[in-house]
Amino acid sequence: MQQDESKTGEGVLFVGIDLGTSSSAISAGNGELKWVESYVGWPKDFIAAKVVGKPVLFGMDALKNRLSLDLYRPLEKGFLKEGTSKDEEAVRELIHHLVKLVKPLKGQKIHAVVGVPAESFKVNKLAIRKAVSGYAHSLMVVSEPFAVAYGLNLLNNAMVIDIGAGTVDFCIMHGTIPSEDDQSTILNAGDYIDQQLYNFLVEKHPDSTFNMNMVKMFKEHHGFVGDSGDAVKVEIPVKGKPVVHDITAEVKRACESILPAIMETITEMIAKFDPEYQAGIRDNIVLAGGGSLIKGIRDYIETTLRNEYGSCSVRAVDDPLFAGAKGALALAEDMPIGYWDQM
Ligand SMILES: Nc1ncnc2c1ncn2[C@@H]1O[C@H](COP(=O)(O)OP(=O)(O)OP(=O)(O)O)[C@@H](O)[C@H]1O
Ligand SMILES: [Mg+2]
Repeated sequence: MQQDESKTGEGVLFVGIDLGTSSSAISAGNGELKWVESYVGWPKDFIAAKVVGKPVLFGMDALKNRLSLDLYRPLEKGFLKEGTSKDEEAVRELIHHLVKLVKPLKGQKIHAVVGVPAESFKVNKLAIRKAVSGYAHSLMVVSEPFAVAYGLNLLNNAMVIDIGAGTVDFCIMHGTIPSEDDQSTILNAGDYIDQQLYNFLVEKHPDSTFNMNMVKMFKEHHGFVGDSGDAVKVEIPVKGKPVVHDITAEVKRACESILPAIMETITEMIAKFDPEYQAGIRDNIVLAGGGSLIKGIRDYIETTLRNEYGSCSVRAVDDPLFAGAKGALALAEDMPIGYWDQM
């Protein structure tokens, strides 16, 4: 890549990628917007290869064929397990797949901004860079909540809380590119809720048969905190027959299990910020990530902060699945040449 490449040149496609634990999304300057569950699988043997008919599978396609595959979810706990070369290869394949989904023209140079979980941003920047290098001519790696903040034009006096699968990431914006001190991460997020709910259900209904995937669906369809009023009833097989189970209390308890750490982190981060700006940040808190779809979570956070501090305002982004990728694309399109890493 030449330094003097015009950033609006026809030969360049800007892309924003949100590389997530559970799902990854890409938004491109040509208007394409795509996402895929962050699963990558390779056939286990030659029979498997014949059955699935492809050298590598992604997303739901991979999950459905998991019995035939070596299946990877490369950013499991919010960061890439480096050294396990298969995880690195999985990220590489995932990036390649995402870039193909937005259909770059032949010969078009890819300038990519990649948002990764904040923890991964701290520890894996180099590995991520390596994974992307084959498919991008210029690259910048940023933390996910920063990409979200940029996309929403929340550049000053704001806090973004990205409730993902592997991590909850916090980022305070105060008019500059956020530093590590402006960011924080909790490792209990959507996956943790699923695990908790699974454990509660196993304990209460030892004879019913369900798996993690079903439990995740229960959460995504019915997850709530606080008082929703509606009972949560789902069908789960018992000895092969579908039986309706009331799982209201378990769903509530599992979803609420991540709240104390979230409240503590918000309070801590704002408390150590310049006192003159603390009230401004409390008035501009934005929730993103799939976890922001849990019913009642916005209300809960706002009410809890209000009871403690008086004024505060919390809102949720409209499209949690794409907010990171769209923000990363906006960054890519606006970024001066000097910020890019040339690959
Ligand atoms: N309607 C919903 N209600 C509750 N949770 C949901 C809902 N939809 C998605 N989720 C959960 O949100 C999480 C995925 O969100 P998101 O795509 O933002 O995460 P990610 O970017 O893959 O993870 P991370 O940011 O930790 O890397 C999963 O745990 C998923 O189960
Ligand atoms: Mg995410």
